[in-house]
Amino acid sequence: MKKNRVNRVVLIGTGFVGSSYAFAMLNQGVAEELVLIDLNKEKSEGDAMDLNHGMPFAPAPTKIWYGGYEECKYADIVVICAGANQKPGETRLDLVEKNAKIFKGIVSEVMGSGFDGIFIVATNPVDILTYAVWKFSGLPKERVIGSGTILDTARFRFLLGDYFNIDTRNVHAYIIGEHGDTELPVWSHADIGGKPIKTIINEIEEYNQADLDQIFINVRDAAYHIIERKGATYYGIAMGLVRLTKAILQNENSILTVSAYLDGEYAHKDIYIGVPAIVNRDGIREVLEFELSEDEKEKFSHSVNVLQKIKESVFP
Ligand code: 2OP
Repeated sequence: MKKNRVNRVVLIGTGFVGSSYAFAMLNQGVAEELVLIDLNKEKSEGDAMDLNHGMPFAPAPTKIWYGGYEECKYADIVVICAGANQKPGETRLDLVEKNAKIFKGIVSEVMGSGFDGIFIVATNPVDILTYAVWKFSGLPKERVIGSGTILDTARFRFLLGDYFNIDTRNVHAYIIGEHGDTELPVWSHADIGGKPIKTIINEIEEYNQADLDQIFINVRDAAYHIIERKGATYYGIAMGLVRLTKAILQNENSILTVSAYLDGEYAHKDIYIGVPAIVNRDGIREVLEFELSEDEKEKFSHSVNVLQKIKESVFP
């Protein structure tokens, strides 16, 4: 087990998502040590220098350097942001073969260092790649976590907060399922200040279901809209990853929609998919099982089935 007394996070992949994550980590002072690893050493070395120059302005010191896989030995968390990303017109699932291959190499290097902490996976298709990390690493399922629908839930809360003119942090609503085209909103458990959103739209004339349906479509298709405009998405996901990192390092027992392994929850097995889960220092403490409506159950099962097919093509 780990002998390092300080919190160490190792980040693998310092592309757009990885370097935004490192920047957000430094700005929030979450870890004592942050090690950057990238195939392109020059890039990660440059990032370490650049980030370190911001240290006098950070809320707490973070020791940042670039390094090799041996640094994973004493890491609490290894975050993987490496791999190919979506080109305009590509779906997240189109990336599976390329990235599964890249991941086999990465996970074997990390495990070869003696790493015994928690993996966070962000690369797409994130649900399948989280499953791949679990398989390749041999770590308990609780210690392999995907970013899942953490960002989709954030997008959903942001848009709902905007629509109802309420602080997004006071909106409780979840997106579950694949982080991708088959995800779904859980309207049966969406509320603001304890009041179900379904009730609010019945009571106040200016609000209606058609607008809510459009809000969900905008959430589901957000990545396409951003990629069309700027080629990639990275700030939102980076902040979501920091949130998840913090929940682990500070033993928060926070409820976050992450890609978690299902072993009978929601009547499904042997799949990683976005569900609400309690996250703490041990990883995933528990998958929360919401009482879904019949329609939500059907949509969730469809999402699971789509992922199962892809998973079986990678792990027959
Ligand atoms: C996103 O949803 C592309 O998965 C990335 O922003």
